[in-house]
Amino acid sequence: MWRATRKKFPAGPSEVLKRWSFGPLNNNPLEYFTTIAREYGDIAGLRILNFKTIFINHPDLIEEVLVTNARLYSKGRVLRANRHVFGEGLLTSEGDFWLRQRRLTQPAFHRARIASYAATMVEYAQRMMDGWRSGEERDAHGEMLRLTLQIVGKTLFDADVERDAQEVGKSLELLLEIGANFRRTIFVPHWLPTPANLRVKREVARIEKIIYRIIGERRASGRDAGDLLSMLLAAQDEDGSRMTDKQLRDETITLFLAGHETTASTLSWTWWLLAQNPAAEAKLHAELDAVLGDRPPTLDDLPKLVYTGHVITESLRLYPAAWGLARLAVEDHEIAGYPVTKGMGVTMAQWVVHRDPRWYDAPEEFRPERWENDLLKRLPRFAYFPFSGGPRQCIGNTFALMEATLILATIARKFRLRLVANHPVVPLASITLRPRHGVRVVLEARQQKQAANFLTGEQSAVAD
Ligand code: HEM
Repeated sequence: MWRATRKKFPAGPSEVLKRWSFGPLNNNPLEYFTTIAREYGDIAGLRILNFKTIFINHPDLIEEVLVTNARLYSKGRVLRANRHVFGEGLLTSEGDFWLRQRRLTQPAFHRARIASYAATMVEYAQRMMDGWRSGEERDAHGEMLRLTLQIVGKTLFDADVERDAQEVGKSLELLLEIGANFRRTIFVPHWLPTPANLRVKREVARIEKIIYRIIGERRASGRDAGDLLSMLLAAQDEDGSRMTDKQLRDETITLFLAGHETTASTLSWTWWLLAQNPAAEAKLHAELDAVLGDRPPTLDDLPKLVYTGHVITESLRLYPAAWGLARLAVEDHEIAGYPVTKGMGVTMAQWVVHRDPRWYDAPEEFRPERWENDLLKRLPRFAYFPFSGGPRQCIGNTFALMEATLILATIARKFRLRLVANHPVVPLASITLRPRHGVRVVLEARQQKQAANFLTGEQSAVAD
């Protein structure tokens, strides 16, 4: 039986040997990890059967794992178990293969290149709103999913996926719902013909069909669209060989999935938070009116949309789309005196660290203004890490922040999203943190200068 030796860590006596039960982990992982941190402090050893993992909850330890000693780890069990979905794409591949692919992909995410995507992001958001009518009820999460999928499709693959968006969105939703069962993900081999596995297979096949069509169309046309897909198609190994359709499929499916659901969820949580915090919403509107007046935002407006940016930063703190990270040790070593043996897991949860009162006043409250006066610079580096850090940090972080800010500005300039009473908005901690039943809202055109009090249902005139 594995025993951790009793050690002290700066935050106090904080180690423990705990039997890791999959029940609460499966049912409510957010609460489970929060409780572990509250009861055991910054480092705790957990085990179930032969699986051992160390849960760490201090920014300095997290930095040690993700940055300083990154070479001692590979990706964790949940991502590994999803290889049949992501293949050897950037998110799941390892070692030299990963490095080569990361270098190939990186230019598509350089700041200057991303800047050229800004107009597409705003244009697609406007196009979506063309179909919106004031007073109409919609699922904000479904809307955000379709929008961000179209944006990733257009910017990285120059493909208009509007007609596919609904299908891919639905398949993805099912995949993430199934993926939320960690016990099944880790313990049931994906090739077993269980009902859940058969569903996963069907949904992956559906997404693949679309992706292979996009790849096939581009190969056939031989067109250099100057986008990521063209770069990947043109890339050659030292021996002159090019990427196979399977490799292209893996990178494409990874970027489609990693690059749209995360930003969509961030925006969905943002609408939900804003609808419950009228003061923050009013401040956001005031900034948008002052900076933009009656025109949509452009890239050049971003430095002036300071509060809008803080709204996104705060939303990513409270509802980080990547709510937890896991690694596997590839060598024996120690963390803060804990023996870590090869094959042991290390888990970190943004959900927990981002709500730690040591780093944030009133951590459960939505307060975009907390980011004023450079809070980020005053925090320990890994007290806020929605995009992870170190070599495996999110390649799309600048893309995502720009996209979320521009979409928020474009939509909030025109519409308020009022929550539909009694619709449950519940976090589902799958690979990403998403609203389990969506976020049902009533659209309210802002120029009407009317606001419905979503709690009482009363209509009242507002000075917009
Ligand atoms: C708010 C939005 C986003 C969040 C919160 C987010 C978060 C993350 C995190 C935490 C990781 C690291 C995972 C780990 O270390 O295990 C990651 C990796 C990754 N993300 Fe994002 N992401 C977002 C948007 C995007 C976008 C827009 C794209 C692409 C268009 C993208 C593509 C990727 C890829 C390819 C990786 C793997 C990188 C590698 O290992 O080399 N992400 N993301």
